[in-house]
Amino acid sequence: MSVQQEIKRLTAPDILARKGGEPLVCLTSYHAHTARILDQHCDVILVGDSLGMVMHGLETTVPVTLEMMILQGLAVMRGSKRALVVVDMPFGSYEASKEQAFLNAARVLKETGCGAVKVEGGKRMAETIAFMVERGVPVMAHVGLTPQAINVIGSFRAQGREESDWARFEEDTLAVAEAGAFSVVVEAVAEPLARKLTAAVRIPTIGIGASAACDGQILVLEDMLGLSPRVPKFVKRYTDLGPSIDKAVANYAVEVRARAFPGAAHVYAMKTKKL
Ligand code: KIV
Repeated sequence: MSVQQEIKRLTAPDILARKGGEPLVCLTSYHAHTARILDQHCDVILVGDSLGMVMHGLETTVPVTLEMMILQGLAVMRGSKRALVVVDMPFGSYEASKEQAFLNAARVLKETGCGAVKVEGGKRMAETIAFMVERGVPVMAHVGLTPQAINVIGSFRAQGREESDWARFEEDTLAVAEAGAFSVVVEAVAEPLARKLTAAVRIPTIGIGASAACDGQILVLEDMLGLSPRVPKFVKRYTDLGPSIDKAVANYAVEVRARAFPGAAHVYAMKTKKL
């Protein structure tokens, strides 16, 4: 008799229930193989639109399309079993109207099988978030530095470093929580502001360049692995894979040029004939 152990995937309500509890571990992934590794350790895997920079060498996330997000979302779902997979809604796919947001988010849920989507923006997105949540789309919000707004804000600068500026971030965070978001990413804001936002809302805050007081943390995987050429101040490199990959590829090139690879262990011999 074979016994199949069912692995239950975390859901948006499971993540919401973690408010104030053990910190949520979140990372980005865009591929099945990295998703498989992250799934052993993470509560949430975000298929971030940072894939525009990481996978495609783009300067910003603005050119990323819904099709790109769906393709990589599907790959991450195939590679994972347990973590909640959240797929970013790319620029231009949700801002025009709440109906546009719902229809595109429904496509993401149906075509990838993921458990939630993420949208950038605070107060201005509240009505849209409420509309989506009421219709069955779990939404993670994203406030503070919102990279999709780069052409309006001008640079990827930390936000809220003057206390006089805090009110709008508080309004944004409260508005998305009130609208029904199950969690909110707080990106690149002054540490005391992130702490204050976390204390003010009833949903988990997921910090990136924010505060250890947040209910969870997220980083772009390639940034923390040392694979990204430039990283913001808030990134801690947990390893430096770049030089290891460089060394491996250099060794491969030497062996191929010397016809030392493939060796006897890496080629197929003929079948031995039975006499
Ligand atoms: O796109 C992304 O990777 C993100 C994280 C940095 C939060 O939105």
